[in-house]
Amino acid sequence: MPNTARKSRKRWSGRFSEPVAERVAAYTASVNFDRRLALVDIAASLAHARMLAAQAIISRRDLAAIERGMKRIRADIEAGRFEWSVEREDVHFNIERRLTELVGEAGKRLHTARSRNDQVATDVRIYLRTAIDGILDLLRALRTALVELAHTHAATLMPGFTHLQVAQPVSFGHHLLAYFEMFTRDAGRLIDCRKRLNVLPLGAAALAGTSFPIDRARVARELGFEAVCENSLDAVSDRDFALEFCAAAAIIAMHVSRLAEELVLWMSPRFGFIDLPDRFCTGSSIMPQKKNPDVPELARGKTGRVYGHLLALLTVMKSQPLAYNKDNQEDKEPLFDTIDTLTETLAIIAEMLPGIRVNAQAMRAAALQGYATATDLADYLVRKGVAFRDAHEAVGLAVRFAVDQGRDLSQLSLNELRRFCALIDADVAGALTLEGSVEARRHVGGTAPVQVRRALAQARRKLAREAKLSHAMPGRTPGR
Ligand code: ARG
Repeated sequence: MPNTARKSRKRWSGRFSEPVAERVAAYTASVNFDRRLALVDIAASLAHARMLAAQAIISRRDLAAIERGMKRIRADIEAGRFEWSVEREDVHFNIERRLTELVGEAGKRLHTARSRNDQVATDVRIYLRTAIDGILDLLRALRTALVELAHTHAATLMPGFTHLQVAQPVSFGHHLLAYFEMFTRDAGRLIDCRKRLNVLPLGAAALAGTSFPIDRARVARELGFEAVCENSLDAVSDRDFALEFCAAAAIIAMHVSRLAEELVLWMSPRFGFIDLPDRFCTGSSIMPQKKNPDVPELARGKTGRVYGHLLALLTVMKSQPLAYNKDNQEDKEPLFDTIDTLTETLAIIAEMLPGIRVNAQAMRAAALQGYATATDLADYLVRKGVAFRDAHEAVGLAVRFAVDQGRDLSQLSLNELRRFCALIDADVAGALTLEGSVEARRHVGGTAPVQVRRALAQARRKLAREAKLSHAMPGRTPGR
């Protein structure tokens, strides 16, 4: 290593006899990924400094200097002019050292009664809180798109599948609203997680608290926290709030992936149920005819990294003795990538859904192909007094007969049907149509179009209620 480089790096502190090795500085630095916490770090530092001044731990003059310096630093960061340095290890040191360059002594007083341990735990919580708010907004946008599409297609009929075999006819709107339910529970999980994470670690200092007369409640109020962490060791060491988020994110990614998988299947000419707008698809470099659903495929594929981050973070946390360990620095990349991946994926799927073109004809034709109303014929026989198991057997035989003939149940004559059960009458026709089948399922949760419309109205009310709640959450960034 050239001598000049060695000279440019200083000893960590008076405790050390030589500067940290270059390789170690690079290995332990986190500034390249934690600098995205910069604005949050500044906000938290200002709240801390104001509290220190209010408690007469630092002077009013010092506070004024800190505020002035931070204003400049914030402007420089926002303008992309701030000089980040790996030598200064992380976002916290970069900002604090720069502050001291700008305002001198006062900058050195900022770190009174805190540690980077409670500082970073606070920053990550605020950052994640804002990210959750953004994701909640996107989940609402996605559900709104589902609701609109379901509204148009409350009475569009398609085959419902089990085992990917035609099972019973369903309303396409009903099918879409199944995803509404999933994403609504996902939002609920995030709201729960947000509540538990919105508790202030600052004041825990390194691990044991501080000997200064701090006012934690004041800092919590200024930063939008609903409470303060009750145990200083826990405050600096646990990352379960990030884990909870990653677990909720994994479930969301799984739901998105199922929807994406269906979009891919439905767009295959073998189904031909939907077409995605050209602007969401790409072609092939060799096959001129190809139009590929890359967006839902990628959304499905990205599930892998979201699951991976959850496992990575669980593994980072296991076996760490209390309290803070440098291992914790490894929480950020998985967490940030989970936030980014989920945010981008939800945004693009929400944007794509309204552009879907639905081929109702193809859906209907597919529903007519797979003996989807066989259960309705069995139910019809039950209403005529046959026990369900016997009805099931009789209809099974009728289906086999129709399969052999290459015909649908509705194409069999009354006489042909009567061979399987003499109780069948002319009124059977209603039971064998797709419309008759779905309309009969009009209880809560059923697929009858009237029921789908009721579910739609309820879904809209839920969205409005959640939006109101979301905007009133403590610590919500104004204007979001
Ligand atoms: N960059 C560190 C992290 O992300 C900040 C806390 C460092 N604390 C320490 N005692 N080394 O965890």
